[in-house]
Amino acid sequence: MVFPFLTHKNKFVIVNSQTKIRSLEGKEEDKMEKYAEQTIQLYEGWEEFYAKPIDEKIEFFTLKGRLFDIIFAQQFDRQFLDYLCKLAEMIRIMGKTKMGHEKLRHLLPHKRAMLYFVQPSTRTYLSFQNACYILGLSVSEIRGTATSSEVKGESPEDTIRTFASYVDLIIARHSEAGFAEKTSWVLNQTERPVPVLNGGSGPDQHPTQALLDIYTLEREFRNTGGLDGKKIAMVGDLKRGRTVRSLSYLMKNYKDVELYYVAPEVFKMKDDIKEFLSRQNIPYHETEDFESVMPLVDAIYMTRIQNEYSEDPRTESETYPAFHFKKEHLSRIHAHCAILHPLPRRYEIEVAVDKDPRAAYWRQERNGMWIRAALIAYVFHAEQEILEEFS
Ligand code: NCD
Repeated sequence: MVFPFLTHKNKFVIVNSQTKIRSLEGKEEDKMEKYAEQTIQLYEGWEEFYAKPIDEKIEFFTLKGRLFDIIFAQQFDRQFLDYLCKLAEMIRIMGKTKMGHEKLRHLLPHKRAMLYFVQPSTRTYLSFQNACYILGLSVSEIRGTATSSEVKGESPEDTIRTFASYVDLIIARHSEAGFAEKTSWVLNQTERPVPVLNGGSGPDQHPTQALLDIYTLEREFRNTGGLDGKKIAMVGDLKRGRTVRSLSYLMKNYKDVELYYVAPEVFKMKDDIKEFLSRQNIPYHETEDFESVMPLVDAIYMTRIQNEYSEDPRTESETYPAFHFKKEHLSRIHAHCAILHPLPRRYEIEVAVDKDPRAAYWRQERNGMWIRAALIAYVFHAEQEILEEFS
């Protein structure tokens, strides 16, 4: 909806429902309208908590032996991963029939979820929203700080705390590293802690993407013995790509996995992940020679250059052709090699590759909805009725 509104910088402007500010010439202004600077309050104890090693923090996001908030990939162990993949598979099967769908829809109609997605998202947002619909939850959404009281200066922590007054689950995506962790840390100290699911926190982590990646790999390898013993290449911007970071953490749960990090020098995987892999005795190799890795691996996980985190996105290259997967490469990879990509794709995978049965990324995208439905069922202890369907 577009309607006339106020004057801005002495020009008559119109504001659309997303409150993007446009002049009458149709030029978009650089900044969103803001009435006040964001309030930054001191949260005593937060800095100390944030600085702790993740292993020491996991307990804080756990309740009665079950995961309560989903913040880091390091929270998942093999038992949980196998269980969630099984549950996703069951939900998927039930979702195919009218009767099964009805049963699922009646599992959580008394629960409400908040999708707080203030960083661009298509797949994570839609898959979470549809996962909620599958289980009967109602969903509210905020898709930009410009439409919340944050324009009045409210702190993100207070904004999140407000959601907890109305809903039973918060799913958050934010451009800041540590955002989901801080909000669940704040909420867990209130009278109404509600679970927080991290839908992506800056260049830091994307744990539910890692869940769907594992689910996809296990499905793609169902005829070749599953993920154990497999060689996986991760390609592209490994420095700022949160998906490859979270997925790397999960490798500790699988036997005899070997990783190949293929990235331009400037986007090499960061040391924290490499140190983690060394501590876990997971072999990894680093190279810029993508073609040499292609025939060696069972899966190739492609990623795009994450220009949004660049200090100067206007001068940074958006594409590194040596790290693209092209149609001609299909003859170089194993017959069973799975090609994954968290998407969105730019030029990393030629569209002609999509038709090859090894191109798993569109299946991977859909898997996200089923595994997220499984996760929400788990968070609300609603799995029993699903398991009973198959007993
Ligand atoms: C990824 C993300 O947002 O980190 N996308 C997604 O969630 N499917 C990958 C990306 O944006 O490159």
